Amino acid sequence: MSSEVLIIGGGIIGFTLARELRLRGVRDVILLERGTPGLESSWAAAGMLGPQAEADKYDSFFRLCCESRDMYPQFVEDLLAETGIDAELDQTGTLSLAFSERDSQKLRERFECQRGIGLPVEHLSAEEARRREPFMSPDVRDALFFLNDWQVENRKLIAALRRSAEIRGVKIVENTQIDRLNVEDGRVTGAESLDQRFQADQTILTTGAWTSLIKMGVADMPFSVEPVRGQIAVIKTAKRLFQSVIYSPRGYLVPRLDGRILAGSTSERVGYDSSTTDSAVAALRAMSNEIAPTTSGLPTIDNWSGLRPFAFDGLPIIGHLDAIDGLTIATAHYRNGILLAPITARCIANSLLNGISPAPAYSPDRFKLRSVVSGI
Ligand code: GLY
Repeated sequence: MSSEVLIIGGGIIGFTLARELRLRGVRDVILLERGTPGLESSWAAAGMLGPQAEADKYDSFFRLCCESRDMYPQFVEDLLAETGIDAELDQTGTLSLAFSERDSQKLRERFECQRGIGLPVEHLSAEEARRREPFMSPDVRDALFFLNDWQVENRKLIAALRRSAEIRGVKIVENTQIDRLNVEDGRVTGAESLDQRFQADQTILTTGAWTSLIKMGVADMPFSVEPVRGQIAVIKTAKRLFQSVIYSPRGYLVPRLDGRILAGSTSERVGYDSSTTDSAVAALRAMSNEIAPTTSGLPTIDNWSGLRPFAFDGLPIIGHLDAIDGLTIATAHYRNGILLAPITARCIANSLLNGISPAPAYSPDRFKLRSVVSGI
């Protein structure tokens, strides 16, 4: 099978990129997925679009996250128009809570940094925060409110993206595990599964936590991507208890329109083990009870886990390798896969179609430099 562009990995990054490339005139796009598209990290995520609530630095990566978040209203509106599937972008905002003097100090620092660079953020007293969220614990000392940090229903988003890809003629090949990239004279020319060969002018890896399992053919990749498991427990409410996404220093609650509350998340280095554990559910329930004691009487109706793709420095890998033509990487989005999908697709399309390289901070070659300097 041959194509102009071969995308390996059928999660949110792969699908958003496939759609972007078709929108920008690439004729033949094949998207390969080892299992059923969209059923790994993109399905397991909680869909928060919260760069301000999660920020600890105000660097170019923070700006990338904010820029991608700001693309969401148009992205979701366009997908609804194209496919009839509403990804339920909820723009109510996000709260970050303090339970101790130390937490309050951190919130004040975050508030001052963000106000200082002109970002919309409010510092709320406990009473003001409780007016927003009446079920919040009386132990809350104060809070920040981020009007521009939102949430999206990531499972509906991936369904919309898949539908859009189908409408736009992307060829989707499921249940096809790629073991090896084909390299000829320093150029990647496609990839091979156990029984099929895919030829392409450009090959793009959007393989998330599984990226480092793919063999390069002749050369090794100069980076590695590790899985970091995150577990979520789902609490059932008869009616919606909260309006905003709510963070505490120990986790977050994401209230869905249908009354479910997603409580997340763990960070566990357990390889490719995507099972769930009772101890994680108990910890997530304790986190939820701290935010809102009223949730303690509610049932856990579901739980799941996903594998976040993590590179050594925690930053995404977006770009091509200097030494190898025909190959582009878009992976290692770690905690930000849903958030960064629109900007990643734009960066990769700009690189392939307009020759504009993504920022060096995200280059796959940055790890090569590190190993030379440190002698690893
Ligand atoms: N983006 C939140 C998480 O990965 O848990």
